[in-house]
Amino acid sequence: MGDNLSDLSNSAIQEINECSSSNDLESIRVKYLGKKGTVTAALKSLSEIDPRDRPAHGKRINEIKTLIQEKLSERKASIQKQEINQNIENKMIDVSLPGRVNFQGHRHPVTKTLLEIEEIFYGAGFVVEDGPEIEDEYHNFTALNIPHNHPARAMHDTFYFNSEYLLRTHTSPIQIRSMEKDGVPIRVIAPGKVYRRDSDITHTPMFHQIEGLVIDKGINFSHLKGILHQFINTFFEENTDVRFRPSYFPFTEPSAEVDILSKDNKWLEILGCGMVHPKVLENLGINTEIYSGYAFGMGVERLAMLKYGIKDIRSFYENDLNFLNQF
Ligand code: PHE
Repeated sequence: MGDNLSDLSNSAIQEINECSSSNDLESIRVKYLGKKGTVTAALKSLSEIDPRDRPAHGKRINEIKTLIQEKLSERKASIQKQEINQNIENKMIDVSLPGRVNFQGHRHPVTKTLLEIEEIFYGAGFVVEDGPEIEDEYHNFTALNIPHNHPARAMHDTFYFNSEYLLRTHTSPIQIRSMEKDGVPIRVIAPGKVYRRDSDITHTPMFHQIEGLVIDKGINFSHLKGILHQFINTFFEENTDVRFRPSYFPFTEPSAEVDILSKDNKWLEILGCGMVHPKVLENLGINTEIYSGYAFGMGVERLAMLKYGIKDIRSFYENDLNFLNQF
């Protein structure tokens, strides 16, 4: 029996020393120390041994068990170390490879332009107002002196929900809403999305406008000219030739459209403006003997196109990263 135990211990140690993978090592552990393993079986068969020999025999088996456990964990540690080193060698890190670029988002060029415009008017004492994109026909048309059947309604190519509600065709209804809310004197700008049934190289069904409105005592056309000159020169970052061309809007009188002279010597329209029509103010119960004012409305995409030399307005809304990343 003693010899058998020595053989058992020797063969276990030899197998452990020759083993070279974690998986094989686990099989060896099961073979000797597992539930049906040889050492476990030897311990179980102690009961069949002469009681006088039992203590010595049991002690010897336990010594072998401990020895095998120690050898196993020693070998396990060295195999693991080997495996890690091998892994590092196989998966060599190439430090000369280009790094991974983290794409960082940024503001959309229209938002950027909008904020630039707001900033300029902020500096001139304007406050920002907001209004609903789903507007009623009273605020979008009637209150702005565009009654039913007025030909100007046809100019707007309106998206209607029903006879009362529509997508606002301009930011001018915010003029009405701000005066209803705060009365006069007032000095506001109102940026926002507007909608018209129109789509080509210079029109998208949704675009942005910024509305301006100033009502106070003694406001006249020269104030309007002054603020717009100041705005245009600041926005385009250089002295720009500006032309006020007589025009017509039902809610302003007199009305003008403003053109700027482009690099290739062409006059380009950038906004509509005028002195707020007395009818608009009277509708709101404002005394036109005391108060007068001006209003203007400009297309934000239009201004961005001129400033950055963009040819097609639709490129703002195609989500082409090559285009957007230029800003
Ligand atoms: N609302 C006009 C438009 O969309 C622009 C405008 C605003 C004109 C204010 C005069 C005064 O065309």
